[in-house]
Amino acid sequence: MQLVAKTFHGLEEVLAKELNILGAQDIKTLKRAVSFRGEKELLYKANFHLRTALRILQPVLRFKANDEKSLYNGIYEFDWSAYLSNHKTFAIDSVVSSYIFKHSKYVALKIKDAIVDQFRKKTGNRPSVDTTNPDLRINVHIYDEDVTISLDSSGESLHKRGYRSSSSQAPLNEVLAAGMVYLSEWDRKSFFLDPMCGSGTIVMEAAMISAHIPPGSSNRKYGFMNWKDYDRTLWKKITGQGNSRINSKLGNINAADIAFSAINGTKQSANILGYENQITTTKTAFADFENRADKGVIIMNPPYGERIMEKDIFSFYKMIGDTLKQNFAGFDAWILSANKDALKHIGLRPSRKITVFNGPLECKFQKFSLYAGSKKDKPQT
Ligand SMILES: C[S@@+](CC[C@H](N)C(=O)[O-])C[C@H]1O[C@@H](n2cnc3c(N)ncnc32)[C@H](O)[C@@H]1O
Repeated sequence: MQLVAKTFHGLEEVLAKELNILGAQDIKTLKRAVSFRGEKELLYKANFHLRTALRILQPVLRFKANDEKSLYNGIYEFDWSAYLSNHKTFAIDSVVSSYIFKHSKYVALKIKDAIVDQFRKKTGNRPSVDTTNPDLRINVHIYDEDVTISLDSSGESLHKRGYRSSSSQAPLNEVLAAGMVYLSEWDRKSFFLDPMCGSGTIVMEAAMISAHIPPGSSNRKYGFMNWKDYDRTLWKKITGQGNSRINSKLGNINAADIAFSAINGTKQSANILGYENQITTTKTAFADFENRADKGVIIMNPPYGERIMEKDIFSFYKMIGDTLKQNFAGFDAWILSANKDALKHIGLRPSRKITVFNGPLECKFQKFSLYAGSKKDKPQT
């Protein structure tokens, strides 16, 4: 069957690689998604193992609609009894980018009407809508006149890993953080540092990658578990195999931050993950970080300057560049920021620039290779 994994802009290639490792066929990168082919086993594995996917969809219907009536009819004529029944609940998520259909909520309403009308006509009764915890989540994608209807096999978004403590404030999305760790090509063992760790999302994702901890959980409820063809034995086999690969030993993972609250939050998450004794946490300003390693990978997500005056944010980014040059020769440093002007004040030439989105904010994820020689001091032109 054909399947689609959704992700964030900029992570499509990384997700395609993850899918390749899982054994997916016909992998094609799309906009914020990757399509692939596979059977039920792969669908379950994708939900359990993919770190850079937000949800896994199974397209069940494609047609063209050039007005409201043809949209309604396309849905009404499809046999929904294979997926829904009167005592089940459903919800519709819609993404619309079309010169014909302008309002995604209105589209969702029309589609809901067509499904409900089909059941009423056949049975005299209808399934109910439940937007928070439905039995079946239906995903609608309309691009101009092309309508794709998919079943959402994930249910809740896959970014939820279970290590977050309740005190986290404005953390990075876990899927983005995992994608950043993969993009850095960290080898899972050598020195890894997030010197501005905040709630610790980047180090938790690095830890999970290092120890082969699946991002999914055998305790969580997935959308496909409500499908008529749910195979509990197959799911148990997949989660059991995945969990048996978990390594008790982590790579050399380090987190630091200037704020006590950040260090506490990171420790709590490490504790929930069960690796509190192996993730080193230090409360320190980046400029004062005592580095004893001679090489490794740094990933950081510094403040973008919303609360700092422009002049100060430029000198803050200059401090980051100076500290990298002075204390981290031999390292690869990756910086995620939405502040493109401030990034220029790092004073180093990036060897890679990748555009990603942190929520609605367009960001650059830039790599700086900190050679021990003269290149490191070369200012950006
Ligand atoms: C955007 S937040 C990082 C969020 C983090 N990636 C997460 O997922 O929660 C930036 C962090 O940089 C820290 N910070 C600011 N200035 C710092 C400095 N000079 N040295 C170290 N950490 C600093 C802040 O305390 C804050 O936790």
